[in-house]
Amino acid sequence: MPCTYLLLLLLFLVPLSFSSETLENRVIIKGNQTVLSFKSIFRLGFFSSTNSNWYLGIWYASSPTPTHVWVANRNRPVSDLDSSTLELSSTGNLIVKNSRDGVVWQTENKDPATDFRFLETGNLILINKNDSPVWQSFDNPTDTWLPGMNVTGQTALTSWRTPFDPSPGFYSLRLSPSFNEFQLVYNGTKPYWSTGNWTGNAFVGVPEMTIPYIYTFHFVNPYVPTASFWYMVTTSDAASEPRLTRFVVDASGQLKQYTWDPQTQYWNVFWLQPEDPCRVYNLCGQLGFCSSTDPLKKPCACIRGFKARNAVAWRSEDYSDGCRRESGDSGEKSDTFEAVGDFRYDGDVEISLLQVSKSSCAKTCLGNSSCVGFYHNNKSNLCRMLLESPINLKNSSSSIGISGDVLYIREPRKGNSKERISKSIIILCSVVGSISVLVFILFVPLILLKRSRKRKKTRKQDEDGFAVLNLKVFSFKELQMATSGFSEKIGHGGFGAVFKGTLPDSSTFVAVKRLERPGSGESEFRAEVCTIGNIQHVNLVRLRGFCSENLHRLLVYDYMPQGSLSSYLSRTSPKLLSWECRFRIALGTAKGIAYLHEGCRDCIIHCDIKPENILLDSDYNAKVSDFGLAKLLGRDFSRVLATMRGTWGYVAPEWISGLPITTKADVYSFGMTLLELIGGRRNVIVNSSTSEEKETEPEKWFFPPWAAREIIQGNVDLVVDSRLNREYNVEEATRMATVAIWCIQDNEEIRPAMGTVVKMLEGVVEVTVPPPPKLIQALVSGDSYRGVSGTSCSEGRGCSDLNTGLSSTGSRSSFGRPSP
Ligand SMILES: *[C@@H]1O[C@H](CO)[C@@H](O)[C@H](O)[C@H]1NC(C)=O
Ligand SMILES: *[C@@H]1O[C@H](CO)[C@@H](O)[C@H](O)[C@H]1NC(C)=O
Ligand SMILES: *[C@@H]1O[C@H](CO)[C@@H](O)[C@H](O)[C@H]1NC(C)=O
Ligand SMILES: *[C@@H]1O[C@H](CO)[C@@H](O)[C@H](O)[C@H]1NC(C)=O
Ligand SMILES: *[C@@H]1O[C@H](CO)[C@@H](O)[C@H](O)[C@H]1NC(C)=O
Ligand SMILES: *[C@@H]1O[C@H](CO)[C@@H](O)[C@H](O)[C@H]1NC(C)=O
Ligand SMILES: *[C@@H]1O[C@H](CO)[C@@H](O)[C@H](O)[C@H]1NC(C)=O
Repeated sequence: MPCTYLLLLLLFLVPLSFSSETLENRVIIKGNQTVLSFKSIFRLGFFSSTNSNWYLGIWYASSPTPTHVWVANRNRPVSDLDSSTLELSSTGNLIVKNSRDGVVWQTENKDPATDFRFLETGNLILINKNDSPVWQSFDNPTDTWLPGMNVTGQTALTSWRTPFDPSPGFYSLRLSPSFNEFQLVYNGTKPYWSTGNWTGNAFVGVPEMTIPYIYTFHFVNPYVPTASFWYMVTTSDAASEPRLTRFVVDASGQLKQYTWDPQTQYWNVFWLQPEDPCRVYNLCGQLGFCSSTDPLKKPCACIRGFKARNAVAWRSEDYSDGCRRESGDSGEKSDTFEAVGDFRYDGDVEISLLQVSKSSCAKTCLGNSSCVGFYHNNKSNLCRMLLESPINLKNSSSSIGISGDVLYIREPRKGNSKERISKSIIILCSVVGSISVLVFILFVPLILLKRSRKRKKTRKQDEDGFAVLNLKVFSFKELQMATSGFSEKIGHGGFGAVFKGTLPDSSTFVAVKRLERPGSGESEFRAEVCTIGNIQHVNLVRLRGFCSENLHRLLVYDYMPQGSLSSYLSRTSPKLLSWECRFRIALGTAKGIAYLHEGCRDCIIHCDIKPENILLDSDYNAKVSDFGLAKLLGRDFSRVLATMRGTWGYVAPEWISGLPITTKADVYSFGMTLLELIGGRRNVIVNSSTSEEKETEPEKWFFPPWAAREIIQGNVDLVVDSRLNREYNVEEATRMATVAIWCIQDNEEIRPAMGTVVKMLEGVVEVTVPPPPKLIQALVSGDSYRGVSGTSCSEGRGCSDLNTGLSSTGSRSSFGRPSP
């Protein structure tokens, strides 16, 4: 019965569409033709990433590196370009076809389309004869979420397979089955990150979204199947175009937000989740282990005795095939075990054996050919055998500490492989040996000549410039010795790792910063070091010297024994700063930044003021660090921004809206830092381990809006760190808190200059009640909130407005509106 009904329906429909249309398909694009959107922001056409597979897609017309936002036939590429077409078929569907492959993709609209529109938003729309849309690319997204695009319970964004392969990858962003949060899921089944529930104006896990920037986000009908979430970008003034921005589910499983910086022609990654690439499910495949300690290295590696199952894919950043034993897959009785440390893992099949010694655990494993290793706890004698290869292996020794658990991985007996290796080493050595003798004879005289010239040159330069500055030029070897081979790592910023060292002549401690991927050449580096070396102030970390040898770029600073301010700001930290200390740190930091802005010859915008960059000497005096480094690394601003990952609560709104950056951006970041210093906590608490705190203080999981409201209402006592037990100077606290709110004003012209901030903190300038910053709106519930993204930090600009806001100096004056 239903069949005949369908047949009747078809019989009825088919002649109808035939009569209303000509029988011809309409060709929209053929071969290398493209269609531009009206204002030329987007381009529609065929593209290929490997020259053999062609895809119909949409990309940004202006971006010099191809940036695709949508792909039609991602499952079935066409094999050549010339005969490929995009057509509006006579039945009213959009189709992609090719004479060799036939129709590879078509839209499934029931209502026949008569025309198409390619909108400025990047949305490709099919419309029927009544001009109403019957299909849109925004409802069929690929991996990119553009402004104006609705993500609903029916749509999911799915990553590319690799950065070069648009076919569907393993990672997707979707609304959770309860329609009230977003999840990143692996292979459609395994969620590995989520935003947390919607609270009415933000997601629990992304509280920074409430900072008032250029984005407005809308969540319609959360908790029901018709839920849809979208965002729009606003401009600071009506005349300018909104900034280009996009969210992408990356092939690496991370959700990344990019903004286009027209000045640098860069897509800046400003925000990403999960921040730790190792949280991405199955990133490294079976038996691959993940390590995120060095952000510039590949996150995945194989354990000793294992190698990548697919070496070619591994090189193009696709680690999903994991690792295998170098000697083949199956275990043998003669295998041994390698202790790989305190590793965590999941996705495996395991059997637990209680009260078993390590050796009998090993024996049991050897007896079962599918056993790949075991986990043994030295203290409890718990043995867990792993059957089938574990995934998500990661080194936990650094984060969890000594639990006594050690993972042992089964591997072929050493003897065999060693023999093979030593044989090949002998062959290799003899080949290398004979080549190097040849090279030596031919080139050494040349090299020596060049060296001596170069050495003479650098020595001369060193004597000229750096002696005056008291900067010492170190050799790489000297620094290697001073740091005992870079063994004691004391920190890791975006610019590189920092190691503790001892200078041999003076036995003083130093901090050696090894710059990663230095962007500038030797002469630029030296010029820049010279500039930094020139900047000396009691509240700035002093540069003692540097090393620039071959590709090595190192900076040697005074060592700060009390570490960074950030280590005192965690509620779980046992270290507590007294009020007196906090006030001194606030004032010292302000003086240091003021010197950068106003005191030195070239105005420097720090661009990255945050507690991590405020170091403390033995007397808890604040010393600002990392100034001038943005310039050292050339114009690679996305790297500068990458250093601010996870701390984007410090970034001033003008970074986002594309306005030029001035020193007032540092004032904003300083204000955010002051709030943390007063509250003795971080502004953003999203770590799941602190969910207890979140529940007990629901308003305070994002501190600034709440703190700002209480400070303006005169309740500074509620904001001050309760661990101080009210042992603080009320007048100083009120001043400091009020200054903080002045600093985080949305309009940079209202923010005081750093020199004024110093005077306000000192009490020389009267501090009046500030107007409420926009972020307070985050406390007022609504269905929209605003998010954040970034732009470049250009140094040296904006020095002209240094003195706004200061009505008079010398005698006691007041800042801001007259108090009522
Ligand atoms: C497009 O293809 C035609 C031939 O099919 C060729 O003559 C023309 O140069 C191509 N245009 C571009 C921009 O590659
Ligand atoms: C997104 O959803 C809203 C409300 O549900 C609707 O008004 C808007 O037109 C939708 N946008 C698109 C591009 O479908
Ligand atoms: C992905 O999920 C499908 C079933 O949904 C399953 O058949 C397939 O093996 C999974 N692939 C991987 C790599 O886990
Ligand atoms: C999030 O919302 C869901 C559905 O309402 C609920 O079951 C869950 O407990 C909530 N989670 C949290 C952490 O509040
Ligand atoms: C390995 O042990 C498991 C669990 O005891 C068992 O199911 C499996 O058959 C064993 N495999 C072999 C090859 O002995
Ligand atoms: C076992 O634990 C003891 C102390 O608890 C430790 O000294 C020893 O090194 C551990 N052995 C192994 C193999 O981890
Ligand atoms: C695991 O981490 C520890 C300490 O950071 C390190 O010594 C060890 O080499 C790491 N293991 C692997 C396999 O990377």
